[in-house]
Amino acid sequence: MSEICLVLTAATVVENLEIAKRNHSLIDILELRTDLLDEDQYQLLADFPSLIDKPVILTCRKVVDGGLWNKDEKQRREYLLNWMEGDYSYIDLEMDLKNDSAVVEKALSRGITIIRSFHDFNTVPADLYEKMISFADDQKTIVKGAVYPQTSEELFRLIDTALKLKKSDKIDSFILLGMGEFGFPTRILSEKLGSYLTFCSDSHESRGAPGHCSASDLNNIYNFRNITSSTVINSIIGNPVSQSKSPQIHNLGYKKKSIDAVYVPFLTDSPRWFMEIARLLEIHGSSVTVPFKSEIIPLVDHIDKSVNQIGASNTIYRDRHGRWLATNTDAYGLIKPLLDFIGVKDLDSRKVAVIGAGGAARAAVFALLDMGAQVAIFNRTHPKGLELADLFSCRAYPLEESSIEELKEYSSIIVQTTNVGMAPLEHIDPLDFYSFSGDELVYDIIYKPEETLLMKKAAEAGCPVLGGFKMLEEQAYLQFKLFTGIDYN
Ligand code: ATR
Repeated sequence: MSEICLVLTAATVVENLEIAKRNHSLIDILELRTDLLDEDQYQLLADFPSLIDKPVILTCRKVVDGGLWNKDEKQRREYLLNWMEGDYSYIDLEMDLKNDSAVVEKALSRGITIIRSFHDFNTVPADLYEKMISFADDQKTIVKGAVYPQTSEELFRLIDTALKLKKSDKIDSFILLGMGEFGFPTRILSEKLGSYLTFCSDSHESRGAPGHCSASDLNNIYNFRNITSSTVINSIIGNPVSQSKSPQIHNLGYKKKSIDAVYVPFLTDSPRWFMEIARLLEIHGSSVTVPFKSEIIPLVDHIDKSVNQIGASNTIYRDRHGRWLATNTDAYGLIKPLLDFIGVKDLDSRKVAVIGAGGAARAAVFALLDMGAQVAIFNRTHPKGLELADLFSCRAYPLEESSIEELKEYSSIIVQTTNVGMAPLEHIDPLDFYSFSGDELVYDIIYKPEETLLMKKAAEAGCPVLGGFKMLEEQAYLQFKLFTGIDYN
């Protein structure tokens, strides 16, 4: 099984011991980054492994390799030889120390496993596979490559290399990880990729390496210990994607329902390359978020009615023949909380105002019409509103004071779908020209902040008010069901 290694990046031994203690139950191995320690700590380092009941990797990383050691190389060798008097389990040595017989012999004589490492902070080298193989100089050495994918295509290359190495008999043990946000999935999926371990941090603000996951997130969000060769991978793609709450929602569901699956965020710049990654990793389903909801459509084998009409898909998954299907759970996610809130099964010709005419409005109009409502669209850019209205054969008006009478007519339910009310527009009320009577039901699909300016104003006038958090949950629950066949709740 791939192990979890916590990188110790504090300036003193005492602080590092505290961090190790705090994460003790979450990790298997510690890496002591001696290059990040204050110099007055060096004398304590031969004793360090005896202060802790986990195997320790001894690492002194130079500036060129992404560390902070900027002193003399001769001194570094001497320190390493000295510190190896302690009971370290591993020593991380870059290629330039390959032929340093004193360091290598000392490690071997002390039973310390050598990790032969190299770093590339710019890319995933085209010859990564050959490079890794060429470093595997004997059976006992663990070869480590830490590379920095900057695109989905480079992440594909990295994953492809790892899977080839996993099958190869030319290499025994290796660690292969991608830095940065594009590389993040490799840190979660190290077991799948055949990596001996994954590195993690005490917190997200680590000096260890960019894109580290915390030990707590690895265990508590991603259920890292349960990932095996048979675990199903689901994902979310988008750009950005790191702020998404979906990994928490889906992975919690897998844990609660004992489903052998993991849900991983993939920062993506090319849905086409993501589909190649999905093929390699046999990804079963994926949430799709901004800006790929339309771009994903030509890449799947079949789209349903919701995608056809909304022109966007937020969910793709495979059927039992391996074909990719696309659907849109945003529409269902939007309508379900509204129906529950009112306590009805459909909207039975109710007149509903939709504020906005963007992607979210399209899903809203589709869902509202599907539930039998009569819809009028109110949008700042009137031609865009008319265009959407034309598509769904409904009405459209400009979002301004001149439309007050029409807004009143359709105001039994007002569905706000624009990003106005959310940071950085949290101080704006898209209906600032309108006074609520108290009879309108106001549904703002924004979930952060929990209460927008519009909701506050409506609530003060006595209107029933619904925010967007339930929509987020409902669309995720439906995705969960599509991915796993099991109800979330
Ligand atoms: P999404 O996919 O989240 O719906 P979108 O497709 O970019 O995003 O649509 C954004 C919606 O918010 C549009 O209806 C936009 O109005 P315009 O068509 O006039 O651009 C609306 N919007 C954005 N900023 C706005 C503002 N300051 N006042 C009113 N509407 C605004």
